[in-house]
Amino acid sequence: MLSKNIKVLGIESSCDDTGAAIVDSNLRILSNIVISQNEQHKPFKGVVPEIAARSHMENVKLAVNNALLEADVSLNDIDVIAATCGPGLIGGIIVGSMFAKSIASVLQKPFIAINHLEGHVLTARLTNNVPYPYLLLLASGGHCQYVAVLGLGRYKILGQTMDDAVGEAFDKVAKMLNLGFPGGPEIEKKATMGDENRFAFPMPMINSGNCNMSFSGLKTAVRLKIEQIGINLSDQDICDVAASFQKSVTEIIAKKTKYAIESYEKFADGKNLVTAGGVASNKLLRSCLAKVAENYSYNFVAPPVKLCTDNAAMIAFAGLERFNAGKIDSIGFKPRARWGLEDL
Ligand code: KG4
Ligand code: ZN
Repeated sequence: MLSKNIKVLGIESSCDDTGAAIVDSNLRILSNIVISQNEQHKPFKGVVPEIAARSHMENVKLAVNNALLEADVSLNDIDVIAATCGPGLIGGIIVGSMFAKSIASVLQKPFIAINHLEGHVLTARLTNNVPYPYLLLLASGGHCQYVAVLGLGRYKILGQTMDDAVGEAFDKVAKMLNLGFPGGPEIEKKATMGDENRFAFPMPMINSGNCNMSFSGLKTAVRLKIEQIGINLSDQDICDVAASFQKSVTEIIAKKTKYAIESYEKFADGKNLVTAGGVASNKLLRSCLAKVAENYSYNFVAPPVKLCTDNAAMIAFAGLERFNAGKIDSIGFKPRARWGLEDL
């Protein structure tokens, strides 16, 4: 007998994008709506939590309605409701998860509380059907970590940043250069017109012998260089700083990925190197990771850019995996601003 096709509605609201998506058990993304708040946060060159929470409140219903419309289904066709319940900005998380709980409660359907990081971690299983175990580099605005993904909810952190997340470093350097928000794509754009060898920025912890990282000193070195150039900072200087910074970041990550592979191989053997998170959309970073993977005879998987940055399809898919594993949550699940992968 054919098993029923399950449809999961996912809601994402942990930072500055309101997302709603529907994914089915044939791994089809029936819809994936992202309502960006970039315009609201742009004047502040960073995410303002109160503005984010208010915008999620204004947008969540529209996002869900559009996700239903795009998928051409009604709420009654949805079998499972999944929502990000942390980590992230708690105001937005409360808005999205409360909305999801209300739907689940009215429809009498299972509710699943998703860890946002797990959404990123599992994306490559949705897009490329990657089997467990695999090595993952999660590179986002709030995190930078190497994770041995051993199975659903079985994550071992092999190394991580000791200070700033890599996306945070991109955003802060973009702010210093007076570029737009979010900073990562702006730096990447300027870097294409810059000389990456003009400035030799430091690579902190490069010889630490493990896959822990640090980006704070690099960021400070960039600030000092910009201050040194002073008011004469030209368009070409901006492009050269962006390119040199991006080169340092990718060289750090390339080297740390080698350490991460060696550490991962001590207890897992699936030869897949996967990346996820907003910074994983960076083309130079992707090509560096692909080279490292090739040197170790690993398969390299990077989901499409739209599914690297925050989205609700990854939340719906994590919901599907959890539902299939019988991991259902109570409607009383408390949202969490802090929630590590190893706490799952
Ligand atoms: O995963 P994400 O969308 O949100 C978090 O969970 O943090 O990641 C956002 C981060 C931001 O810091 C943004 O500047 C960075 O990802 N980012 C990039 C690129 N696109 C987004 N960084 C470098 N290059 C990019 N193309
Ligand atoms: Zn994210």
